[in-house]
Amino acid sequence: MPNASADQPNAPGEQPRRVTLANDGPLLVEGPVEVVLDDGSTARSDRFTVALCVCRRSRSYPWCDTSHRPRDKRRTA
Ligand code: FES
Repeated sequence: MPNASADQPNAPGEQPRRVTLANDGPLLVEGPVEVVLDDGSTARSDRFTVALCVCRRSRSYPWCDTSHRPRDKRRTA
């Protein structure tokens, strides 16, 4: 039997899931979440808040690993 809840709208009175757009940073989503990737595979996180990478530079994509942050050039000198 297919998972009907994945295809149905939220039940009346159910709180909407909050998504926060961070400036030049990840997309913050209230967890748990499942992310369907380009290749059809699914990544799951049970964290309270999940940071989704939108810059595609993360080594742990689809999760943000802070690679979006500019490097501090003083540290590399
Ligand atoms: S948004 Fe943080 S690594 Fe891509």
